[in-house]
Amino acid sequence: MEPLVDAPNPIEMPGATPVVETFNLGKFYRTGFWMNEKIESLKNCTLTVSEGETFGLLGQNGAGKTTLLKTLLGIVRPTSGRALLLGRPLGDRTVKQRVGYLPENPYFYDYLTGWEFLQFAAGLFQIPPSIQRQRIPHLLDLVGLSQSAAIKKQLRQYSKGMLQRIGMAQALINNPDVVFLDEPMSGLDPMGRYQMREIILSLKNQGKTIFFNSHILS
Ligand SMILES: Nc1ncnc2c1ncn2[C@@H]1O[C@H](COP(=O)(O)OP(=O)(O)OP(=O)(O)O)[C@@H](O)[C@H]1O
Ligand SMILES: [Mg+2]
Repeated sequence: MEPLVDAPNPIEMPGATPVVETFNLGKFYRTGFWMNEKIESLKNCTLTVSEGETFGLLGQNGAGKTTLLKTLLGIVRPTSGRALLLGRPLGDRTVKQRVGYLPENPYFYDYLTGWEFLQFAAGLFQIPPSIQRQRIPHLLDLVGLSQSAAIKKQLRQYSKGMLQRIGMAQALINNPDVVFLDEPMSGLDPMGRYQMREIILSLKNQGKTIFFNSHILS
């Protein structure tokens, strides 16, 4: 397939399998009372992320980072250009099983416990209960949440940092090959940020591809 890029991406690794490929991707939103105002959130975005790469997308507030992530996940439709995720066109259902996503502002069901929430997420991927029973405690350990808190506490009783951690566990429930994290450090204290960095590194060591948005330069 002939890529529509004018210049090669400087961080593209030759020979590696591309996981994310975008070609002049663009998105504008229509707003205003008559829907006659255009907000250009994404303009000619061309990038490649290869298998096993940890890719940090840095940009100021309003730069279009979340828009790009939502477009790649098929939540938002691009208005120009095209992209491939795991070699398939955006929105392809078969790809969803292999993808994990931590949204910027996740919605949580207040009256579920953390454990129930992870069971619910696992159910969406049709993960059998026997595997859920192994995977949920493993993920809780990974994100630094105690099993007793996950079993006893409802999500409305969780702190912001605890919610961020359960959100991260949810993003990994299907053992995805590629993980999209929108501001994974948000709401975390310095220790939590350190742990999140360690989690990202351990995912990298497992050979997963990680695409994360941040405005934290360090
Ligand atoms: N649903 C929407 N309707 C209209 N405009 C939108 C919508 N979503 C995003 N935008 C606009 O698109 C631009 C990019 O927003 P986006 O959320 O992608 O930025 P971001 O880089 O993720 O910012 P932040 O660092 O604050 O999370 C902003 O100007 C925003 O106002
Ligand atoms: Mg954002």
